[in-house]
Amino acid sequence: MLDVKGLGIRFGGNHAVQNVTASIEAGKITAIIGPNGAGKSTFFNLISGFYQPTSGSIEFLGQDITRLPTHDVVGRGIARTFQTTTIYKELSVLDNAMIGHRVRTRAGLWDALLRTGRERRDEQESRAGGMAALERVGLAAQAHLPAGALTQEGQKRVGIAMALSSDPKLLLLDEPAAGMNPEETVNLMALIRELVTGGLTVALVEHKMSLVMGLADEILVMHHGQKIAEGTPAQVSRDPAVIEAYLGSHAHGGQMGQSGNADAPEPAAVQGNRGAGADSVIVASIQDNAPDPATVPLTKDSDHA
Ligand SMILES: Nc1ncnc2c1ncn2[C@@H]1O[C@H](COP(=O)(O)OP(=O)(O)OP(=O)(O)O)[C@@H](O)[C@H]1O
Ligand SMILES: [Mg+2]
Repeated sequence: MLDVKGLGIRFGGNHAVQNVTASIEAGKITAIIGPNGAGKSTFFNLISGFYQPTSGSIEFLGQDITRLPTHDVVGRGIARTFQTTTIYKELSVLDNAMIGHRVRTRAGLWDALLRTGRERRDEQESRAGGMAALERVGLAAQAHLPAGALTQEGQKRVGIAMALSSDPKLLLLDEPAAGMNPEETVNLMALIRELVTGGLTVALVEHKMSLVMGLADEILVMHHGQKIAEGTPAQVSRDPAVIEAYLGSHAHGGQMGQSGNADAPEPAAVQGNRGAGADSVIVASIQDNAPDPATVPLTKDSDHA
């Protein structure tokens, strides 16, 4: 569905993404993982047209989208959420979804907020698109509540609805479970599965290994801007280069991964298993942080028992 070849971007002397060749397959869930600063969000920024690559190409559904601006990329069927939640808490849930629709299609943010003439013509269409998106994320009944009145999980769903309202074929989620408790994480996993069952293709960046290992069909591992491994969760979690990347970043005072918010358990689990044998580290973090073993299928663990 999406093929990138030799993709790279430099910020000054810093190769944030370097020579990445990878594919995202239709109908699957692809996770992009890697230590903090690995280039994961930048990779999404390149795919979604927020950044222009300094090298390489991006093909989506057989067409070159390398140099397309964001709104054209959205028009082709790629939508995304951001690492930092960007919902408007004082506006209604439906208004948020509708703004998502407008910003991602014809009218700009100012048109949407100021309700210009051009924007008004899109209103009906946006309302329908917004409601359809809210139904997909299970928020139709909350459409008229202020978004800020929802739980953390509800607000994340609003963010996903904003992305879905442009009716994408490929949805990019940047750390969707950040700040969520285990129960909310399980609910989010169920939602992502449902969306994929409904025909959507999902790629997500995530540090929570319980979610990644329980959900992903394919994993792409990045480190220092480069792709260092890819494969199924079982393959990747025993890949020496992956183990080295995570252990290395840990040993140097880095974190196995979180975003500076209160998702503490993941690195703690890694720490608790130091010296337990390198290849048990990633698996240990999966087991220790599984929200609920009864509801999250951790079938991949059997490979390491
Ligand atoms: N707009 C920018 N200007 C300069 N440097 C940038 C810019 N965006 C990203 N970088 C740099 O690119 C590198 C990769 O950053 P990126 O945000 O993609 O990492 P990440 O894998 O998403 O990390 P995290 O897990 O912490 O979110 C970092 O060194 C970062 O400082
Ligand atoms: Mg990031």
